[in-house]
Amino acid sequence: MQFDILTLFPDMFTGPLTESIIKRAIQAQQICVNLYNIRDYATDRHRTTDDTPYGGGAGMVMKVAPLAAALRDVVKHPVTAASSDTPQTLTVLMSPAGEQFNQSIAGELARYDRLILICGRYEGIDERVHETFIERALSIGDYVITGGELAAMVVLDAVARLIPDVLDAESITEETFSDGLLEYPQYTRPAVWEGQAVPDILLSGHHGHVAQWRRQQRLLRTLAQRPDLLTRAVLSTSDRAFLKTLGWDRR
Ligand SMILES: C[S@@+](CC[C@H](N)C(=O)[O-])C[C@H]1O[C@@H](n2cnc3c(N)ncnc32)[C@H](O)[C@@H]1O
Repeated sequence: MQFDILTLFPDMFTGPLTESIIKRAIQAQQICVNLYNIRDYATDRHRTTDDTPYGGGAGMVMKVAPLAAALRDVVKHPVTAASSDTPQTLTVLMSPAGEQFNQSIAGELARYDRLILICGRYEGIDERVHETFIERALSIGDYVITGGELAAMVVLDAVARLIPDVLDAESITEETFSDGLLEYPQYTRPAVWEGQAVPDILLSGHHGHVAQWRRQQRLLRTLAQRPDLLTRAVLSTSDRAFLKTLGWDRR
């Protein structure tokens, strides 16, 4: 899968792309990340990418022409390692006004061959970029950060780890949000630390009991911390029965 990222600050991506799982995925050619500096597409002597807003007001707005030139150039490049002759591309704007990014959207995005991620700065981008090129606008949460770079990194990371073989399949299927529930508590050695013991059941070696305990812990945690998720979660009859014993009364 290919990520083409349009930004005024390509150096911001160095850390996230050169460490850990994302670094390995790039080296193994499971993902490919191209960084395009929007400033390279500005044509005036000062390579201007922003200007004052029409109608007045604070701050600067990213100009339409450099972004449009960058986007038109990006799509001219062939997609590396596309899964078919007609690679599927999605053009995404990082925006606090966008639809809220979540695990389910990460799964949808992971099915594309190429994601073009546009990082806004200043007061945002000229609306005509939105109208002409943007297929989806995504927010990483209800707060405003200074630029789209961190948001694009969040999306890239969440999507990349869903690409086959970037992680082992089991880590993904048991994770928080995989089926709408939070993950169960995890422990590792030592069995007792400062008087706090690991739950006995995890030391029992009984896989069936461990699996049942973990499932119930996921239900307990979700009910306590994110009850809103339960209405959309995939629940079995025994999950519902267990939740009922905890006072959950939704159908
Ligand atoms: C300072 S913000 C612009 C905020 C804009 N004036 C507003 O009120 O909606 C600059 C850029 O950061 C990015 N950004 C800020 N907060 C974001 C969020 N929660 N999710 C995604 N991108 C965000 C967007 O690309 C945005 O264009």
